[in-house]
Amino acid sequence: MTPSWKTICALADIPVLGARRVARAQGPQVAIFRTEDNQVFALLDRCPHKGGPLSQGLVFGHSVACPLHSWTIALDSGQAIAPDEGCAARFQVRVLDGQVQLDQTELDTVGLQFAPLKAGPCAKAA
Ligand code: FES
Repeated sequence: MTPSWKTICALADIPVLGARRVARAQGPQVAIFRTEDNQVFALLDRCPHKGGPLSQGLVFGHSVACPLHSWTIALDSGQAIAPDEGCAARFQVRVLDGQVQLDQTELDTVGLQFAPLKAGPCAKAA
């Protein structure tokens, strides 16, 4: 199917060796990563191990280390690096005239089976 490209942000809005999150109407957010060589990748912001926020991980080379238990995830495929197993959903992404774009159809459909991460301040014990 032909992608329906939607502009998300400027490439310059994503830190080198960092990430930005894209909120959707439903499902977990999407993490957009920028590597040192200015390549851009997009994965569901949900580690295949226990759902950690990959957008908070350490980007190195074309991989990200999950912040929770340090699994390494390949940015181009979402695949966990052996001996770990599993795969984070991948999104098509492109940079056009300095603007980062994702496919609207994938934003509306990919990874919706997972609940959004709940982040925020800890609740006080009663
Ligand atoms: S949740 Fe990512 S390594 Fe455990």
